Amino acid sequence: MSSKMHLLQMLVSTATTHTLMSWTDPKDDQLGGLQDFAYWQHVARTLERGCFDGVFFADSPATHAVYKGSSVPSVQYGVSWPNHDPMPLVATMAAATKHLGIGVTLSTTGTTPYLACRRISTLNYLSRGRVGWNIVCGFSAAEQLANGMAQQTPHDERYDQADEFMEIVYKLWDSVPDDAILMNEATGQFADPSKIKPVDFKGKYLSCKAVGPTLPSKWGRPLRFQAGSSGRGMKFAMNHAEVIFAIQAHLPGMLKSMEQLRAAAAQHGHSGDLKVILGLQPIVRSTEAEARQRAEQLLERIPLDATLARLSGIVGFDLSKLDPDQPMKDFDSQASQGLKAVLMGGTGDGKAQTLREAANNWALSVGIPQVIGTPEMVADEFERIWRATGCYGFNLSPTTNPDSVDDFVDHVVPILQKRGIFRTSYEGESFRDNLMA
Ligand SMILES: Cc1cc2nc3c(=O)[nH]c(=O)nc-3n(C[C@H](O)[C@H](O)[C@H](O)COP(=O)(O)O)c2cc1C
Repeated sequence: MSSKMHLLQMLVSTATTHTLMSWTDPKDDQLGGLQDFAYWQHVARTLERGCFDGVFFADSPATHAVYKGSSVPSVQYGVSWPNHDPMPLVATMAAATKHLGIGVTLSTTGTTPYLACRRISTLNYLSRGRVGWNIVCGFSAAEQLANGMAQQTPHDERYDQADEFMEIVYKLWDSVPDDAILMNEATGQFADPSKIKPVDFKGKYLSCKAVGPTLPSKWGRPLRFQAGSSGRGMKFAMNHAEVIFAIQAHLPGMLKSMEQLRAAAAQHGHSGDLKVILGLQPIVRSTEAEARQRAEQLLERIPLDATLARLSGIVGFDLSKLDPDQPMKDFDSQASQGLKAVLMGGTGDGKAQTLREAANNWALSVGIPQVIGTPEMVADEFERIWRATGCYGFNLSPTTNPDSVDDFVDHVVPILQKRGIFRTSYEGESFRDNLMA
């Protein structure tokens, strides 16, 4: 366990936060934020005031159309649609801050390793080492269809392709060593060509012939995150990630997931400490009753169709085929095996859940558990889970924004700081400096 807790704020570049129908809430400004730099910069400055390690942009690049075989329910309720690109927001938030790290999801589906490396590394250079890359390989069939593929690549093969994708990215990064850069104004020599290693790669799935596109940053390469929790996904994470994200719906699931990740680390020769960041969704009010009332208010306006449209896309199975009031039955899927296992794992007390009950648990937060109560109660629960699991820290899922971020920073962070378990100032300059501290 780290000596201090690390905190990231999960965000998405769409009208809805993790909480479905959030765009209809009077407290929520994110819909307006889609056309306003100031919204994202307010969130960034608040998080930096609260000494957060960074933000983490999740991304659904295309509209789910698995539920009832159609994109209609997604579009009707604004479920993971519109699919605005988070990449410009990385620059927007970095420009408003000095220390805040900005993690962003970029899938290995639908882009080339060269283009991905160029975009991420440009932002990392521009922000002086404050960018992180959540490397996903596109669990959603919609993403593959949107990008011109006739059908979804099978689950494990997507990871094989992603391994090759990363092999090219590492070669592109290695292509321009620090000492190749001269920038000698007197001689006019920008770089020493004898030190540059052009890439010429031909693999089973991908090829690349290029010189590394960006300058090497003095703050190092972008920080690498990964979140696959199937067997194949964990192997990929152990080979490529510096920090691992996980979602589990309850403490027994978190403990089991930590155990599985430790076993995968041993099996795949992961060196160093395993840094696992778990998801939590705080709902903070001055009394417990108010906080519970808020959670109910958020939940009651979410139609079952909206929840099942998102959930069907994530697990890659049309859940309209199941009776919502019968215990959940297993199904085949080529989408996210890790999140499907969380869904099937129920409430952690061994009782089977109906689909309707499970949907209620997923509507606010994609399977991330709520921590509901006063600032003191929320801080207690964060500390308890951190100590019990030995996780590295938490990814916070907002309900409505920016008030979720404001509430946590203003009321919970000071308690964690007073207990000496969260930083009061940044340790270093780059995302890696702070997240690894
Ligand atoms: C905290 C967290 C955030 C994730 N964010 C994204 C995301 O933004 N985009 C995405 O395509 N997948 C995301 N995923 C899904 C995983 O990256 C992974 O692709 C998926 O679970 C399939 O891998 P698996 O079958 O190995 O579990 C996320 C998972 C977790 C735990």
